[in-house]
Amino acid sequence: MAEPQFRTPKGTHDVLPEEQRYMTYIKKAVRHRARQAGYKRMDPPIFEDRRIFERGIGEHTDIVEKELFSVLGKRSEEQTDKSEFALRPEFTAGMCRSYIEHGMQQLPQPVELFAIGPCFRHDRPQKGRFRQFHQFDLEVIGLKDPSLDAQLIHVVTKIFADLRILDRLTLQINNIGTAENRTAFVQALKDFFIGKERNLPELDRERLTTNPLRLLDSKEEDTQVLLKGAPLFEQFLSDESKQYHATLLEYLDALGIAYVPNPHLVRGLDYYTQTVFEFWDQTTGAQNAVGGGGRYDGLIELLGGKPTPGVGFAGGMERIIWHMKEAGVQAPHKDQVDVFVAQLGPEAKKNCLLLISELREKGVHTVGALGEASLKSQMRLADKFEALFALLLGKMEVKRGTIILRDMKKGQQQEVPFDGIVDHVITLLGEKNLDTYTLRDQFAGPTDD
Ligand code: HAM
Repeated sequence: MAEPQFRTPKGTHDVLPEEQRYMTYIKKAVRHRARQAGYKRMDPPIFEDRRIFERGIGEHTDIVEKELFSVLGKRSEEQTDKSEFALRPEFTAGMCRSYIEHGMQQLPQPVELFAIGPCFRHDRPQKGRFRQFHQFDLEVIGLKDPSLDAQLIHVVTKIFADLRILDRLTLQINNIGTAENRTAFVQALKDFFIGKERNLPELDRERLTTNPLRLLDSKEEDTQVLLKGAPLFEQFLSDESKQYHATLLEYLDALGIAYVPNPHLVRGLDYYTQTVFEFWDQTTGAQNAVGGGGRYDGLIELLGGKPTPGVGFAGGMERIIWHMKEAGVQAPHKDQVDVFVAQLGPEAKKNCLLLISELREKGVHTVGALGEASLKSQMRLADKFEALFALLLGKMEVKRGTIILRDMKKGQQQEVPFDGIVDHVITLLGEKNLDTYTLRDQFAGPTDD
């Protein structure tokens, strides 16, 4: 085959129908759990005034310094070399801008919002790292209490449990203190490195001036060795922060949520205060976190609003899909046929009409061949529809008050009583793939967006 003339840009990919099934499945789980907990959906624009990201996420973070995709407005003579807009690298800053812009502080607090959609970071593409990727995002703005952090984490664990990947992940959690705690710590860190700068690799030497906290999760061995003697953040954590964290962990215990306290977890965005957390792959650890979040009590003020606390989380959908596939989780799609009903003879046909209607009414996706074809050709059709089960009703079965139930994958069949067949099929579907069956109905909605 000739090389195609055009391909997707580096770090981007088509979401083809097979992957789209997973996307839809995740969106449904997110919508279901978010709405259950009172979150309302919003969609901030895909590009925003770049200062929102610079101020919010932090000018010296990788995301802003290296990874923002600029969006040029209409070219004009006044156009400066710096573009005014950037594609959103995440949702939080834009949603906080929206909270201020639309006066959401007038609403009952906290305001709980969720968003789902593409984000853009000009990252070096590698496994699980793309330039266009999808996040689902949950934000709780307007009140501060460890019970809110706990509830948010609870909703996220419910989503991961619904998607059947929770047991592949660990929840890493830390408290990085208030802004004041961090200022004191940063000063101590800078003082500690006085005279030692020359032993730092160049990148970290630069970080020491721009963003010293980033040294803590440096991958450089020299830096890590030096850090062994450095002051520890715990020493600067205020009693209030410690108490806040202890209470949060108590709440997580009460909710039965497992976590790993991780004093090294700092996160790559500057807006965080106090609680930070990430969901890591149990085997690969920090690399390719499936999601992360935390508290950002100073962000709204940074963006020009009244001081307002907030806490939130975002999950990376491509990474979640990877986990679902690894775990063998099938993403159901709306078109899946659960049961194919085949019949022979006028009496059977009439009974099947009712049977099909009852199955559909109970949420079982059912196709019925009510023509005059032979049972053999009806079975071939059932195969083509990729139905999980076939129900066959012939003249003999009608007389005996039975029906033949065929497991299409196993190729096995048995004659069972006609009465109660609908419940019987529902039980079997549940055993075969509980997620497929219950999730599809539970999250049934008019759109896939
Ligand atoms: P984040 O840790 O930068 O946090 O991103 C959240 C998740 O998005 C990551 O854990 C990862 O799964 C996914 N992700 C990030 N970058 C990429 C990439 N280049 N390719 C594929 N997936 C990626 C935030 O974005 C914060 N806004 C989360 C938050 C919400 N904090 C408070 N509220």
